[in-house]
Amino acid sequence: MARKLIVIANWKMGPSGYKKARELFISEKAKAKKYRKVKTVLCPQSVLLSEFSKMQNGSVSLGAQDVSFAEGGSFTGEFSASLLRDIGVSFVIVGHSERRALGETDDAVSRKLGLAVKNGLTPILCVGERERDIHGEYLSILRQQLFLSLSGIQRKDLSKIIVAYEPIWAIGKTADDAVTPDKLHQTSLFIKKMLLERYGVSPSSLPAIIYGGSVEPDNAEELISDGNVEGFLVGHASLDAGDFGEILKSVNG
Ligand code: PGA
Repeated sequence: MARKLIVIANWKMGPSGYKKARELFISEKAKAKKYRKVKTVLCPQSVLLSEFSKMQNGSVSLGAQDVSFAEGGSFTGEFSASLLRDIGVSFVIVGHSERRALGETDDAVSRKLGLAVKNGLTPILCVGERERDIHGEYLSILRQQLFLSLSGIQRKDLSKIIVAYEPIWAIGKTADDAVTPDKLHQTSLFIKKMLLERYGVSPSSLPAIIYGGSVEPDNAEELISDGNVEGFLVGHASLDAGDFGEILKSVNG
């Protein structure tokens, strides 16, 4: 049976203030209820997860934007995968380029992935090149990032992960600057081929490949129909419930 398509809202540090965040959560939950063919995941700032977890109601799932590389111990400011699970979170974004830019290493990403899986969370592993060169150098960068990030993951756990292809050059721009459906199609095939060769699994055991980088109402439909992906990781457009609803509608079909 085909997997459900998935749309994940990465709110980053938005919206400003508790009241607005609560309103956004309620509005997006109502949109998600309308588009039942899509699995909708909302990732607010972590301080809100515990409260929002009580408001999930089956229409949306909750995701964290990060998790600790450690199971527990003296790491001030970190929070654990087991605690996320205990409060009702089921997804976690790992290795986002904005965290990698703050110093997160492939090793830390790999440990986070392992802990997420161990604790029953679905990790969303973000990979993506800084720029596309005409010689295709970016493909080896992508390959290396993918394999290093996955080094802590066993073959049997591969299908428990989601891989988000997020080219850095496309993040935080507009639909016109995002990847084109044909380039996305090729890149998604490339990622699948790399994983099939490396892990020798059947295609049905591959992780879902999704796309992130300026997904907006204007490009969601063409990217989902021709991009060879199983969903989206949506940044800025997820801060507007109307836009986010349009994206859910396109994916719902
Ligand atoms: P964007 O962000 O949709 O604003 O490009 C995507 C992301 O960073 O996950």
